[in-house]
Amino acid sequence: MAATRPFHWEYDAPPLPDETIRIEGGRPLRGDVPISGSKNAALKLLAAATLTGERCRFTNMPEIADVSLMAEVLGDLGVVVDHPEANTYEVSAGDIDWNFVPLEAAAKMRASFILLGPLLARVGKVIISNPGGDRIGRRPVDLHVRAMEALGATIDYRNGYYFAQAPGRLRGGDVVFPHVTVMGTENAMLAATLADGHTTIRPAAQEPEIDDLIELLRAMGAEVERTAPDVIEVEGRRRLRGATHGVIADRIEAGTFAVAAAVTGGEVTLCGAPGGHLGAFLDVLDEVGVEVTGAGDRITVRGAGLGGYVATDIETAAYPGLATDLQPPTGVLLTQASGRSTVHETIYEDRLEWLVDLGRMGAQAEIQDPHRAVISGPVRLQGAEVEVSDLRAGASLILGALAAEGPSIIHGVHHVRRGYEGIEGKLLDLGAAIDRAPQG
Ligand code: EPZ
Repeated sequence: MAATRPFHWEYDAPPLPDETIRIEGGRPLRGDVPISGSKNAALKLLAAATLTGERCRFTNMPEIADVSLMAEVLGDLGVVVDHPEANTYEVSAGDIDWNFVPLEAAAKMRASFILLGPLLARVGKVIISNPGGDRIGRRPVDLHVRAMEALGATIDYRNGYYFAQAPGRLRGGDVVFPHVTVMGTENAMLAATLADGHTTIRPAAQEPEIDDLIELLRAMGAEVERTAPDVIEVEGRRRLRGATHGVIADRIEAGTFAVAAAVTGGEVTLCGAPGGHLGAFLDVLDEVGVEVTGAGDRITVRGAGLGGYVATDIETAAYPGLATDLQPPTGVLLTQASGRSTVHETIYEDRLEWLVDLGRMGAQAEIQDPHRAVISGPVRLQGAEVEVSDLRAGASLILGALAAEGPSIIHGVHHVRRGYEGIEGKLLDLGAAIDRAPQG
């Protein structure tokens, strides 16, 4: 297969730290793009495998930096992680001989905090670094801590680390969150699977990645069920068994490529897409006037020329609302729409800053407060030199560069590799002009 595939440096060369790429924009993207496994499912599935000493096998895993990092963190705990072939991982947590998740893991990836629940349930004692925030807001973990305490754990916080203990065994209980939290729900659910007794979690987040995790847990013998849209109930077991599981497709990657088609005036078919998980986003594309055909796992997006779209108002929300992770890509689309669009980012207090960078390409975006912005269009974006600060903003600056006239230089593309498998190769296959810019 490799012999026929055109050379793509990012497939065949290891990513460099602090990568810089050059994009010549203004080319309509055309063709099929394979959607990879979901980052935000894969990371939790790997963590769930520590709930048993038996081997778990995961297929359709995305080849992204965050998965490699999670595998490394598990390895440091004494967990055996095999990567027998691309997109496949096997995990055997027979001997977890270390229960310390260090600062450098948490600093690089907030999702490492998802190890709190399973390790506490399995080992009974965890020392884990506070992951802190990143570019999109404070992002505390207080709700995770309270959930563990509701299950009988004691947690002290000293010098940036949580010292969690479950004397004897966690016990089932009522976990009540003040508002929806995705990983808070997942940490509580994972811990509850080995707790003694019954646990109820409400309001439980409804993201599809959580239902993917429930499917794995049930295959492992856990008694866990979503008994109402925002309620998850668990009957704890003494032990779980190994299982095999295929990761669901990444709805955020799918949405990102849909915008790539729309803003370059191309025609792209998302293959293996989670069509059923894109409802709110597809509603926005419909409001703006992007032509979408197909359903299920093959969705074709046809773009229009500049001014072919109409402005709309978007508001992010917990699932099934519009995903906050699709807010930055949608912002690029709104620069191409005629009129004044408003963006209301309800989940994070710092996820609109990236619009300043998009402004370097000529976007007319006004940040009114940490949760609101106005984007006016249509604007013909111009190539620019920009620095990526976080994963979704970085992917969105790439979208802007693809739509823009002329060349763009994008620094910090390693942030994008955290969550998008082979993004440069996939874009090259769609006809984009991307190459690795000279370093420095
Ligand atoms: C998950 O983060 C995702 N990450 C995020 O995707 C996603 O943006 C987010 O859910 C919302 O959908 C992973 O799954 C690895 P939350 P999570 O707890 O679970 C506040 C990406 O780009 N909060 O649902 O951390 C929090 O600050 C990433 O793939 C507390 O106050 O998000 C936020 O305002 C970015 N205390 C809100 O709740 C807590 O203890 C919702 O956050 C936890 C969260």
